[in-house]
This record gives sequence, structure tokens and C-alpha cells, in this order.
Amino acid sequence: MKTMIYPGSFDPLTNGHMDIIRRAAKLCDVLVVAVLTNKSKQACFSKEERLEMVKDAAGDIPGVEIVTFDGLLVELVRKLDARAVIRGLRSESDFRFEAEMAAANKLMLPTYETCLLPCRIDLAFTSSSIVREVASYGGDISSMVPDIIAGKVSRKLSPRDYSPQQERQQEDK
Ligand code: COA
Repeated sequence: MKTMIYPGSFDPLTNGHMDIIRRAAKLCDVLVVAVLTNKSKQACFSKEERLEMVKDAAGDIPGVEIVTFDGLLVELVRKLDARAVIRGLRSESDFRFEAEMAAANKLMLPTYETCLLPCRIDLAFTSSSIVREVASYGGDISSMVPDIIAGKVSRKLSPRDYSPQQERQQEDK
């Protein structure tokens, strides 16, 4: 049974993340999407909220399991006996961070392997912070995040601008 892990902070999950999840799930028997904490960032959504959003959007994809974990990624890799960690690569600016993370993790766990999947070009400039910024102004994030979580993201980030009508439109899609 080949297990791979797709870790991230998913703050919030975007359509770019979903594209990586769908493609990575085809490369292994089990893809574990791991909602982790990046201590260098102040998360906007709690870990429970981020986990719930990933479950809502990706819970039905065959071969995908969703977990949360407190601790180092290498500990999760060891615990699940995962073959590799998948990360999406949007542009060259992602590469340095990914290379550093891969190198640090390999120093801690010599069997650690990283697979970098290039992102779909039309999603290459989507990011969680852009979603947060647009939603905080009450902007339309429906093309950036899965429909099923768009209402939750808008409600959390723009409680005053958020209208239930907007959520109904999302649900009707
Ligand atoms: N499409 C769209 N956006 C993407 C993307 C994709 N395919 N892949 C990454 N991103 C964006 C995210 O939207 C996010 O954007 P933002 O910076 O504007 O918020 C950014 O890239 C990175 O987010 P994400 O991939 O969700 O998580 P991360 O890079 O914060 O995750 C961890 C890092 C959680 C994997 C890492 O901190 C970790 O392993 N933590 C556990 C502790 C540990 O082991 N630390 C040691 C690491 S050496």
C-alpha cells in the first residue's frame, strides 16, 4: 500500500490545493492530506476550521484521507510509513522554500522524499492570502475556492459584508 502525504496549512484551502489533491491521489494508493501548522505564519482559521473545510471539499475523493497533526512533518511521515510528501509548485518563488523544507526534512529523516507537482498554470497565482484579502473586502472568491467552502470563508473574513444571498448563490452552483 503506497501512502503519500500532502501537507499544508490550507488557510484556507484553494482550488489550487484541490487540483494538487486530485492529481496526487492518482499517484498512490492512499493520499493523506495533512492539515498542519506553519509556525512562521499566524493562521486566520483555526486548525479545526481548516480541517473541516478540507473534509468538506476533498472528503469524497477516492483514496483520500484527511488528518490533522501536531508536530513535525517527518514524525507524521514516519508514523504513516509514507513513501513521499507531495507539494505543489506554483512558480520559481515557491521553489526555494520547498527546497529548504525538503532538505531540512531529509536531514531529520534520510528516507524522506519530496515530489513537487507543478500547479495548473491558470491557478498558479491563486494563494490563500489572496483569497483572504479578496474575501475581507466582500469580493467574489467563487473561482478561487471550492464552492462548498466559499460561504464559510466569506462569513469568517467578511462578517459585515457577507450576505446569506451570496451563500445561497454558492449552494445553487
Ligand atoms: N495552489 C494555490 N496555492 C498554493 C498551492 C497551490 N497548489 N500550493 C501552495 N499554495 C500557497 C498557499 O495558498 C499558501 O499561500 P499564502 O502564503 O498566501 O497563505 C502558501 O502557498 C503555502 O500554503 P500551504 O501549502 O497551504 O502550506 P504551508 O506552505 O504553509 O505549509 C507546512 C507548510 C505546514 C507543510 C510546514 O510548515 C510543516 O511541515 N509544518 C509542520 C512542522 C514542521 O515539520 N516544520 C519543519 C518544516 S522544515
